[in-house]
Amino acid sequence: MPATVIVGAQWGDEGKGKIVDLLAEHSDVVCRYQGGPNAGHTIVRDGETFKLHHIPSGILYPGRICVVGAGCVIDPGQLVKEIDGLEERGIPTGDLRISGNAHLIMPWHVAIDAASERRLGKLQIGTTRRGIGPAYADKAARIGIRVQDILDPKILRQKFETALAEKNLELERLHDHPPLEAEELADRMEEYADRLRPYVDDTSLLVDRALRDGRRVLLEGAQGTLLDLDHGTYPFVTSSNPIAGAATTGVGIGPTRIDRVLGVAKAYVTRVGEGPFPTEIAGPDHARVRDIGAEFGTTTGRERRCGWLDLVALRFAVRVNGLTSLAVTKLDVLSSFAELPVCVAYRLPDGSETDEFPGHQSDFHHARPVYRTLPGWLEPLDEVAGLDELPERARSYVAFVSEALDVEVCMVGTGPDRDRVLTSRAIASVAG
Ligand code: IMP
Repeated sequence: MPATVIVGAQWGDEGKGKIVDLLAEHSDVVCRYQGGPNAGHTIVRDGETFKLHHIPSGILYPGRICVVGAGCVIDPGQLVKEIDGLEERGIPTGDLRISGNAHLIMPWHVAIDAASERRLGKLQIGTTRRGIGPAYADKAARIGIRVQDILDPKILRQKFETALAEKNLELERLHDHPPLEAEELADRMEEYADRLRPYVDDTSLLVDRALRDGRRVLLEGAQGTLLDLDHGTYPFVTSSNPIAGAATTGVGIGPTRIDRVLGVAKAYVTRVGEGPFPTEIAGPDHARVRDIGAEFGTTTGRERRCGWLDLVALRFAVRVNGLTSLAVTKLDVLSSFAELPVCVAYRLPDGSETDEFPGHQSDFHHARPVYRTLPGWLEPLDEVAGLDELPERARSYVAFVSEALDVEVCMVGTGPDRDRVLTSRAIASVAG
């Protein structure tokens, strides 16, 4: 039985949470494979809004096993808060499983993230300041603290104190930051450890067994393709690999187990933080898209930068993820525009044009969008019940995207509620 990967095809915030939420209903296991509390998935269910940072949205369905995989980094305080928040609202979390191999974000990671952004000044990346980069850096340097370290209180305290002795030096000497208080922090970590211990599991084995038993597994990426550490717009990226290939390493299954990769893209583009953005809108349309689309970050509340749809960047996402289908979200946000520019190529500094994403950063930094202007539809999409009921011009917009990318658009989002997603075929067939 296949596993399905859901991956952001742009710079994150594509509305993956809602698509995962829909498919989770038809799945048995839902896994996060990378990232940490830099992600924020907003799910609106029966008028109630849920904001999840660590826990896969499958948790809202009883009986779904929800996995936080080895490729994730976990802020234990944040995770405990999320668990408590769900339990308080009557949503049981007993089916949550956390990989013992995932790394923990420690308070010094958060402090160093903020301090190094301050030091970078104008050159800052615009991180979410959740300690993501420093936690992954320690993982790569093999000095990180892993979830399984919380299983033994003695080991945890020892590792914590050893790490802090060094990190306090870094904070004080490099970042002019007061040292963190070891005793108080260690006590707090032990409290979190007590709360999280029951959820720790061998999640690679769990997912493998689920697949062998013919159960349906969803692998949910956070952030998006262009924020990928290896293939995104470095250095303005996150410190993990959101692209689909990383689902296998992040969860601990082989690449042969996956045969469906669903990309999620907005009908336009947004980006949070710094970095080049060829189709960023200049002028009053920027605020219109931002306000109609409520483009403010779930995690940081930051205003998102908004741009017209970029097919060059999306073609790149199709390539590096091997997308087998695409969900286009927030089509309704474009309903009030008479004309819709869509970027079909980049003009490079040497005057040439390309419809492939530039391999060299300087070309991308200086790329100018070449637009094709499509007619807008100006009708609200609230009452539309099926893809073939979309206004003709809206249908043409979606068809244009699908043809340009040579990928089927299997879902179209037309509003914030979970029932505002139109599907081209039964959701169950996408979910596997
Ligand atoms: P970090 O992941 O906090 O280190 O931030 C690195 C870059 O990724 C910054 O530009 C962030 O704004 C961006 N980023 C991280 N997580 C998300 C997300 O979930 N959505 C959109 N952008 C994100």
